[in-house]
Amino acid sequence: MVMSTPPMGWNSWNTFNFHINETIIRETAEAIVSKGLKDAGYEYVVIDDWWSLKERDKDGRLVANPELFPSGMKALSDYVHSLGLKFGMYSCAGLRTCGGFPASFDREFLDAQTFADWGVDYLKYDFCFFPHNAVGRNYYNRMSMALKATGRDIVFSACNWGADEVEKWIRSTGAHLYRSTGDIFESFSSVKDIATSQWSKEKYSAPGCYDDLDMLICGMDGQGDLGHPNACSDTDYKTHFALWCMMGSPLMLGNDVRVMRPEMVELVTNKDLLRIDADAECRNPIILTTNSELTPTYFKHLSNNEFALAMFNFSDDAGNGDFRPWEIGLTRNAGFSLDMREVFTGEELHGVNDFIWTPLAPHDCKVFIGKYTV
Ligand code: GAL
Repeated sequence: MVMSTPPMGWNSWNTFNFHINETIIRETAEAIVSKGLKDAGYEYVVIDDWWSLKERDKDGRLVANPELFPSGMKALSDYVHSLGLKFGMYSCAGLRTCGGFPASFDREFLDAQTFADWGVDYLKYDFCFFPHNAVGRNYYNRMSMALKATGRDIVFSACNWGADEVEKWIRSTGAHLYRSTGDIFESFSSVKDIATSQWSKEKYSAPGCYDDLDMLICGMDGQGDLGHPNACSDTDYKTHFALWCMMGSPLMLGNDVRVMRPEMVELVTNKDLLRIDADAECRNPIILTTNSELTPTYFKHLSNNEFALAMFNFSDDAGNGDFRPWEIGLTRNAGFSLDMREVFTGEELHGVNDFIWTPLAPHDCKVFIGKYTV
């Protein structure tokens, strides 16, 4: 299968951790449809860790916990599919999942077939309890082959947290996306740390295999086991989403979609940002930190001869975002300038060919889409 744009969907981990069950999954899938998220492109409904029994069955197969998933995974998958969505699950390259459940080390072909039999369209593949004397690269490749051997189109979502310079080899394993960092938490510093950790690795993300910056925390609003009440403002969520889109990251919601506020639905369905995220070329942004590493500027070529320009303020104080066109090769006498429109406010700038700056509230950003004029 060709994964020509970064996958979009929802994953249970951020909010539900080890408190998942089939009712939550069904209601979440229904909410994804009723809130218009499916229409915006969010299609994969992914159950993370904690779904199985602690032991395999007598044939060595993984077993869903019948107390949490009494209808079984095939029935749940059928229901998710009946809503026009796709179904995702979770396993691990090691001997146990991070939660201590059976994982797929040396059981790859059997487990891949089990997932295929259940109608799984997406597999997140973690890295806990991976033997030190084994080579991670080979085991990601092994599961990738096992998934392909089922003949079913299954998105392979590698999750080794950026270990072993994953960005340099993961594309060659056939994976469609790769987690490049440790886990996200509901805080602006977590967002900032993940974003800046990719400042030298951003070039590795490209169509077919995308740098996964981890699930979104937008709209978590302090809920669930990884939520931190009052830790994030709506401005934090806005900048987080804009950063992920400027990087072309997979967009997996991590909040409780059933109670998602309209403001958050509006944010994550912003058409301009989704277009930037899913741009056909998935070019890495040029990242400028001339002013300060706390106020970086991202310039990203889009297909159709357009560009995106984003100015961020990572600081806890008010600051100024700036853009110095000469730093990307555009000088005043080039005979060209930039026309652009801000994606949240509609503010327009015309004829930009020299230094511009803009005041930014703490943690805020501005994101423009634009084109060139003579
Ligand atoms: C971590 C992973 C998280 C989540 C968790 C489940 O290793 O990074 O995203 O999947 O395991 O136990």
